[in-house]
Amino acid sequence: MILGIETSCDETSVALLGDDGSVRVNLIASQIERHQPFGGVVPEIASREHLQHLFPLVRRALGDAGAEWSAVETIAVTAGPGLIGALLVGVAGAQGISYGLGIPLVAVNHLEGHIFSPYLQREGPAIPLPERFLSLVISGGHSSIYDVRRGRAAMLNRTRDDAIGETFDKVAKFLGLPYPGGPQIEAHARLGGADRKRFPFPVPQFKEARGDGGQGTGDRSADFSYSGIKAGAIRLARQYGVRADGDPRLLADFCATFQDALFEQLFDRLDTIWPRLEPPRPSEVAIAGGVAANGVLRERIAAWGERHGVVVRLPEKRYCTDNAAMIAFAGLQKRSEAGDPRRVTARSRIA
Ligand code: KG4
Ligand code: ZN
Repeated sequence: MILGIETSCDETSVALLGDDGSVRVNLIASQIERHQPFGGVVPEIASREHLQHLFPLVRRALGDAGAEWSAVETIAVTAGPGLIGALLVGVAGAQGISYGLGIPLVAVNHLEGHIFSPYLQREGPAIPLPERFLSLVISGGHSSIYDVRRGRAAMLNRTRDDAIGETFDKVAKFLGLPYPGGPQIEAHARLGGADRKRFPFPVPQFKEARGDGGQGTGDRSADFSYSGIKAGAIRLARQYGVRADGDPRLLADFCATFQDALFEQLFDRLDTIWPRLEPPRPSEVAIAGGVAANGVLRERIAAWGERHGVVVRLPEKRYCTDNAAMIAFAGLQKRSEAGDPRRVTARSRIA
């Protein structure tokens, strides 16, 4: 079995997976309530909460799996990117266990965790990874499309400013909706949207190729940029008096139009990238990260897959937001790199 540990942000999570990727246990201690009064994650509080919850969770995971320590053969831990103080709790904890038990430790990039998460199943072994798939990682901290070949991910684009989930969260906060904003916006959007032209949201286009300013993705014409939609949304909300505690119809229409504008850009970039991929094109497209829990997006990407004749992989909702099962699963993909725990370092940013 492999033990997975995730503490990169505001979720302490511990999981145990079989070698075939079957999830035996996946425990998550969410800190959302602790951060809610501040409208976002407070790093100091996050670290302290991880410290409190990590070891009790590890013990509970073993208990729930009915497993002894001796059944754990490898440990996988998120080494970054994330909040450095939060990462350090997980990494130091994993190092201690690895050292104490004399078992190898593998460092996992949090994004690799998200990338492979759509292949985890609710029950039974993981779905076999295809030779090549396209992965859309859309979360609170990241918006990127990856070309994943034989388990190796190459980034095809990135956001020039805000991540898509962050945009949901910031606009929701401005409206006076609780954190995290994504699920809130989705819930209100479901009640509205009859009049989609009511709010003219800007959709930025970067059709011509431009220099990448040394960022490393080469052609940036397919990059995301959400700060324009964010600023536009806040301006429109102010102009029309849209508030969480205001006219519910207005709020619903606003949320529906705002959500559409965010996804419009996602599909615009996907449509830019897809025809550029040299054949044989990926046989599957997967979405991952917190925003992949969004029902409207799941329907739209499924329809996109049908139009393009590719299999679409939607992660189980429990594996969309941060969790240790996906970290353990990514750890299984790179088990050959597992080794001395002293070689693992927490890094807030990973190139
Ligand atoms: O993957 P995640 O747990 O954290 C990061 O690694 O960033 O994603 C959290 C993000 C938040 O921005 C949250 O608002 C968004 O995912 N989110 C959603 C939905 N559920 C969570 N956004 C849109 N619709 C949802 N249903
Ligand atoms: Zn994440």
